[in-house]
Amino acid sequence: MEKRIFRFSAASTEIHFGSGISHLRKIADPKFTVLITDENVYHAHTRRFRGWNTIVLKAGEAYKVQATVDAVVETLIEMEADRKTILVGVGGGVITDITGYVASVYMRGLRFGFIPTSILAMVDAAVGGKNGIDVGEYKNMVGTIRQPAFILYDMTVLNSLPQVEWENGFAEIIKHACIKDAAMFNALEANTLKYYRSKRRAIEELVQRNVLIKAKVVQKDEFEKGDRRLLNFGHTLGHALETQYELLHGQAISIGMTFACHLSAKQCGFTQNQRVVNVLEKYNLPAYASFNKQKVFDILKMDKKRERKEMNYVLLEKIGKGMVKTISMNDLQKKLLLW
Ligand SMILES: NC(=O)c1ccc[n+]([C@@H]2O[C@H](COP(=O)([O-])OP(=O)(O)OC[C@H]3O[C@@H](n4cnc5c(N)ncnc54)[C@H](O)[C@@H]3O)[C@@H](O)[C@H]2O)c1
Ligand SMILES: [Zn+2]
Repeated sequence: MEKRIFRFSAASTEIHFGSGISHLRKIADPKFTVLITDENVYHAHTRRFRGWNTIVLKAGEAYKVQATVDAVVETLIEMEADRKTILVGVGGGVITDITGYVASVYMRGLRFGFIPTSILAMVDAAVGGKNGIDVGEYKNMVGTIRQPAFILYDMTVLNSLPQVEWENGFAEIIKHACIKDAAMFNALEANTLKYYRSKRRAIEELVQRNVLIKAKVVQKDEFEKGDRRLLNFGHTLGHALETQYELLHGQAISIGMTFACHLSAKQCGFTQNQRVVNVLEKYNLPAYASFNKQKVFDILKMDKKRERKEMNYVLLEKIGKGMVKTISMNDLQKKLLLW
């Protein structure tokens, strides 16, 4: 087992690799701890929850809403949870987001930690301290930035993760490789999803590498003024597509990454588009799709990263080196409509 401590502006996070629920007993007293999970994770791993107070929520993004937060708060009150209580989110990104949010507001803040169980939560949602809920069609509209006290990594939970969720999570891994880590990109090119699914050590190392990439980016820029924006690679178009079409997040950002590569070629001489497309397709992610470009542009215009007539867009200088460039909305519209 390996422990790393990341210090952020207001708190530190202990990250334990190669551990799991059994190790949780060393960090959190079951008497004062409440686990929050969803039905899928609970049913696949019921035995691991034995001896812990557990709140089991319905699974899915549709439940990442205030009504669920209210229900969790009411249950915590019934359980007589107080300021000494520790909340631990055991699940995918929906569960880590809800847990972090409830822990931030219940009695003005409890200690909390995560045991992420999806690839996406392991490499992305659990790391960085953003947590929030959706309001109507607006994703992550309400939330806080608050770092978890600890994150425990247990790769054995992945045994029950469906194939499509593996693919979904690998989109964020490919994103990290594109913006920060050319060597990891080469490894992804050389290997396959099947390889990572079957080799515990390989996926453990890959996850660890991704956690470090995200944690370091966030550490440098917790409140998203500079480097953290790189993590939005593929997400500007991706988010717009997600609101209009039935796509998984990973699929939407894959198309977004391909378009960002295309823009990078036009704006800053990026020449490695085909390698990015090949890797996305190798991991069963869509690189292209036909969609209503004008309609999607109209959504994209509303993006948080837009400043009047310009938008900050994450582009690649080369594989492993992302950068933020401003592009005029007119230019962006032209390039998207012609893509
Ligand atoms: N806070 C952040 O910085 C951040 C970053 C990225 C994403 N997110 C959020 O994360 C969410 C997406 O995360 P996700 O893809 O993990 O979604 P999710 O939590 O809905 O999990 C996906 C599906 O996999 C199931 N699952 C998870 N682990 C499993 C396991 N080990 N075995 C069997 N089934 C399992 C879940 O029940 C669910 O059905 C979104 O709400 C997104 O907004 C947050
Ligand atoms: Zn994402």
